[in-house]
Amino acid sequence: MFTVKKLATMFVAGGVLASLAACAPPGAPAGGGGGEGGEGGADCNVGISMPTRSLERWINDGENLQQLLEEDGCTVDLQYADNRTEQQITQIQNQVAGGAQILVVAAIDAATLGPVLEDAASQDITIIAYDRLLTGTEAVDYYATFDNYQVGQLQGQFIEEELGLADGEGPYNFEPFAGSPDDNNAGFFFQGAWDVLQPYVESGQLVIPSGKLSATNDDWKSIGILGWGSQDAQDEMDNRLQSFYTGGQKVEVVLSPNDSLALGIEASLKSAGYQPGVDWPLITGQDADKANVQAILNDEQAMTVWKDTRELGKRVHEMIKSLTAGEEPEVNDTETYDNGVKVVPSYLLDPQVVVKEDVEPVLIESGFLDPADVGLS
Ligand code: BGC
Repeated sequence: MFTVKKLATMFVAGGVLASLAACAPPGAPAGGGGGEGGEGGADCNVGISMPTRSLERWINDGENLQQLLEEDGCTVDLQYADNRTEQQITQIQNQVAGGAQILVVAAIDAATLGPVLEDAASQDITIIAYDRLLTGTEAVDYYATFDNYQVGQLQGQFIEEELGLADGEGPYNFEPFAGSPDDNNAGFFFQGAWDVLQPYVESGQLVIPSGKLSATNDDWKSIGILGWGSQDAQDEMDNRLQSFYTGGQKVEVVLSPNDSLALGIEASLKSAGYQPGVDWPLITGQDADKANVQAILNDEQAMTVWKDTRELGKRVHEMIKSLTAGEEPEVNDTETYDNGVKVVPSYLLDPQVVVKEDVEPVLIESGFLDPADVGLS
């Protein structure tokens, strides 16, 4: 019996797969589940490890992928790790012990998973990094994500355009935030935004009263919010407002890398007396979480970068279908995502800016959100 990984490796190594693939039972579902009725499991056993249920997007991500795979007759073990690395490690160990042939992992702290992933790889398990890259290890085969640099770039460009920075407008009081220092994505988000915005900080068009800035691209962790928590972002914004915005000075623009941070920042502004339509700053976000889409409709958040997580699920589903059919999964980037040990073959999807006018035609009409989710029914 060939494992998924051995088949894929042989395919890459020698192109000898065609005859092996032909051994698959005729008419077997692409997921390799072994026949009709979703009995499954024997040839397609997938462990999905997600970071937390505390953010809407991960719940959708996990359940969506589970459903697609189960429709193919795969056996799926979906676990959430409560944003605790130790818990994620134990869950992955259990998935390996439980016979997983493929692991799909959205890491909490990617750098800590090396040993458990290496153990899995030594048992010929194929490892797909989901949304967040798995770093510092050979034991990752593929990566599927949205273009993380582009997410930050879209946020930076939005600020640039809305404030007329390229036309010389300013100065504006600006507060930048970055994501969790242990999340590899957060560096890409920051870099994408900072490459657009830093020249305006240098020219004095963006002024940072708190002085909380990243002196260089590499220094973004100094303004990162560990664990992406809304409350921590709120506390940080409270601090900045109380310490540096005295004497009537107002914050006019906030770079928030995602929606969970934006929610905390918005709560802080509210308690400091800022009012939408009066002195509310421009705030960015990412994910199109329901509460943030409502904030967009209420003029409390200017935009969010939408990543249609259903598309990411479909992409990983395709990867798994290829693997179980003994084929090499399709990737579209073999240069960008160096995990410190190797460049991981990746499939990058395009994120998209959503503003108030797009909520209905984009988020609702595509079925991503129900009108009731955002108070529109
Ligand atoms: C994801 C974002 C998410 C953040 C917090 C990042 O790795 O790419 O979509 O907002 O984690 O969960």
